[in-house]
Amino acid sequence: MESKKTPFLLQEDTDEIKEKREKREENACRKTLILFLIVLLAVVVCAIIAISVAVALSLPSDQPTTEPTSDGLMVTTTTQEELSGEYYGSNGAGIRFQVVINSTYYTLIVTSISTGMDVINVMHPQSTNMTMTSINSTTFMIMMNSTSQMNDYIVPPTATGVMETMMRSDDPQMTDDLLQELDSINVNITRQLTLQLLALSEEATLIIEAAKALVEMNNVNSSYPPVRQFYLLGLQLEKMRGHSLGGASTVRKRSTTTKQYGRCAAGGGYCTASRCPYSRDGNDCFGMCGRGCSCWFFVCGDCCYHHYCETHDICCARKGFYTWACFRVLRDYFRSSCSSAYEC
Ligand SMILES: *[C@@H]1O[C@H](CO)[C@@H](O)[C@H](O)[C@H]1NC(C)=O
Ligand SMILES: *[C@@H]1O[C@H](CO)[C@@H](O)[C@H](O)[C@H]1NC(C)=O
Ligand SMILES: *[C@@H]1O[C@H](CO)[C@@H](O)[C@H](O)[C@H]1NC(C)=O
Ligand SMILES: *[C@@H]1O[C@H](CO)[C@@H](O)[C@H](O)[C@H]1NC(C)=O
Ligand SMILES: *[C@@H]1O[C@H](CO)[C@@H](O)[C@H](O)[C@H]1NC(C)=O
Ligand SMILES: *[C@@H]1O[C@H](CO)[C@@H](O)[C@H](O)[C@H]1NC(C)=O
Repeated sequence: MESKKTPFLLQEDTDEIKEKREKREENACRKTLILFLIVLLAVVVCAIIAISVAVALSLPSDQPTTEPTSDGLMVTTTTQEELSGEYYGSNGAGIRFQVVINSTYYTLIVTSISTGMDVINVMHPQSTNMTMTSINSTTFMIMMNSTSQMNDYIVPPTATGVMETMMRSDDPQMTDDLLQELDSINVNITRQLTLQLLALSEEATLIIEAAKALVEMNNVNSSYPPVRQFYLLGLQLEKMRGHSLGGASTVRKRSTTTKQYGRCAAGGGYCTASRCPYSRDGNDCFGMCGRGCSCWFFVCGDCCYHHYCETHDICCARKGFYTWACFRVLRDYFRSSCSSAYEC
């Protein structure tokens, strides 16, 4: 542009032009310097980000794989009526859980995050004696009669829709027509297999870990009913799993059986003689809440004898582990206190 203009300019203007050109060159020089500094700054910032990302990524693999802590647990809601959140195990597999206990419903849902499948889905309208429980897409209808005995049926896939609609209605009733849809023939074997598979599943391990991790969350009130239910689900699964994997494990043996001066040592604390767990059926810690001698202190507050846990163990031994009487993840599971008997 400049070279085209020059021939038309007068001689007296050339000094001015020179001056302008110098100024322009000076400006260009400054601009280049500023640009250079900006680029340099950007490079430095990028390098810092890259280094921190690399460090962050390399950290987990450098650490030895330890017991998962509450790091893998995220609690999204915890109130008197609801507990919900997510838990990820050390291998990255995760579950989403929600327990709701309000005046109209008791619901408990655990979903596998990778498959989107409901591992457990329990639905109980408070006004009825019916509980619909799905475990890995096998659905059961469990009805408790006036003598607290449990009768259960399989809900065939074709009938889950109508059953769900009935359970969610304002006044759920099991009519004779609906009862016709249910299958009672294979229920014993199906229930047993379903519960056994559940106990041995990876998701069960995640539920057990999540329940234990929940204890360490300081914003979670362990007295809230949904929180207690979740602890008990974990405890139940751990016991059922232990049973599936064979009862004669070391966990049933107490390491230090010191009973002296009218008290015994249990789980880092002491129990008065009358509240000491005892030996029975090859289990040194009968009456303690937990699988064998591995104590779930948060269920009843310590590792001593609790009538509730003792009667629950007796119930499972008598009725079998793969029954709803033993694995009672349904309504009023923990209505009673630690000192009252478990309704078998
Ligand atoms: C109880 O919880 C269910 C969800 O499980 C919800 O649909 C219902 O509205 C709740 N009822 C009350 C009274 O809060
Ligand atoms: C509970 O269910 C049984 C069927 O198993 C039924 O006969 C009974 O009337 C129900 N009891 C109540 C209190 O709803
Ligand atoms: C309750 O159910 C049990 C088991 O099926 C049965 O033996 C008992 O007779 C039932 N009791 C009543 C009152 O229906
Ligand atoms: C299932 O088992 C119960 C008790 O364990 C028994 O009373 C009942 O008859 C069995 N049902 C079938 C269909 O075999
Ligand atoms: C559900 O079923 C699938 C295959 O059908 C199995 O791989 C998985 O372990 C089961 N999960 C549970 C919780 O039973
Ligand atoms: C925990 O919940 C219980 C019962 O729901 C309540 O009595 C207690 O005050 C709560 N504790 C805290 C620290 O919020």
